[in-house]
Amino acid sequence: MTGGAGFIGSHTVVSLIEAGFEPIIVDDFSNSQRTALDGLRTILGREITCHTVNCTDAAAMHEIFANERLSGVIHFAAFKAVGESVAKPLKYYRNNLDSLVLLLELMPQYGVKNLVFSSSCTVYGQPKQLPVTEATPRQPAESPYGNTKAISEDIIRDAVRSELPVRALALRYFNPIGAHPSAQIGELPLGVPANLVPFITQTAAGIRPSLMVYGGDYDTPDGTCIRDYIHVMDLAEAHVQALRKLAESRETSSYDVINIGTGRGETVLSLIKTFEQETGVPLNYTIGPRRPGDIEKVYADVTKATQTLGWTARRSLAESLQDAWRWQEKLNHKVLEL
Ligand code: WQD
Repeated sequence: MTGGAGFIGSHTVVSLIEAGFEPIIVDDFSNSQRTALDGLRTILGREITCHTVNCTDAAAMHEIFANERLSGVIHFAAFKAVGESVAKPLKYYRNNLDSLVLLLELMPQYGVKNLVFSSSCTVYGQPKQLPVTEATPRQPAESPYGNTKAISEDIIRDAVRSELPVRALALRYFNPIGAHPSAQIGELPLGVPANLVPFITQTAAGIRPSLMVYGGDYDTPDGTCIRDYIHVMDLAEAHVQALRKLAESRETSSYDVINIGTGRGETVLSLIKTFEQETGVPLNYTIGPRRPGDIEKVYADVTKATQTLGWTARRSLAESLQDAWRWQEKLNHKVLEL
């Protein structure tokens, strides 16, 4: 699994081991921390094979495919900061697309058939209809980051259409939040968090003076944006189900996309209130202007995930926020500066 030391990757390692898989991490730690490996060692009580490799490095990736007996690939590795992608688009196109094309070239050479790709609900933009299904047309991306996800889906689709012997599932993540209940691994944003939940927990921990709620005048019950926040462990378990689905497939080449969310929409203010109720920690926040590029509301129709993968999200928003807070407390004011 590329990017296996990252936020979603590291949690997926835990679920894979629990499901009897033997994951191998490929990560260059350009956007993740080696401390994730320490956390995994504590949770699992064993080492996980990790190759410190940039997954656009063809020679190094050939080596891994040649020396490891791989039954499938989960491709997490990608740069994912929406704002940075606007400032440095070529860095995003180079990294996010080259790594995928290289994997698609290598897999058939080594008889590796199954690919799970980390996509994003960002490809939907602002859907006209909610909840959003996989048949909802994609909208032009709002950022180069989002565009790399849409282009990646098309690269896989076209490669499979050319009968590349790969069976692929693109999982369109909604908003991953929370942490493993042990608080040994979790989200570790670089610098000032762009995402809501790490900003909430850093504000509650006193690292940030207050949270700015971006916009209170949207067409929603309380005027703040709606998103589908999914516990990262539910997301991790969806990857296990996706790999199992591909492993039992009889097809030579196949491609499909699946929404991975809870199916529930929550406003920013409802997250703040739930956080305060669950942790007893009052949150200092103000409602300010909208953030450019934000969409108003999106949440998933998860029928296909249930029918195709036999998977549904099990954890509540309250549990996600409790786990996020426990992780923040464990970090004990540790912040990664850019
Ligand atoms: C959620 C809501 C903000 C911070 C992005 C990417 C997506 C994925 C997840 C990578 C929005 C509001 C946020 C803050 C706020 N990234 N907010 N104050 O924008 O839905 O999705 O991150 O895979 O692809 O697009 O997530 O957490 O940034 O924002 O009010 O300090 O919280 O306006 O409504 P988003 P987010």
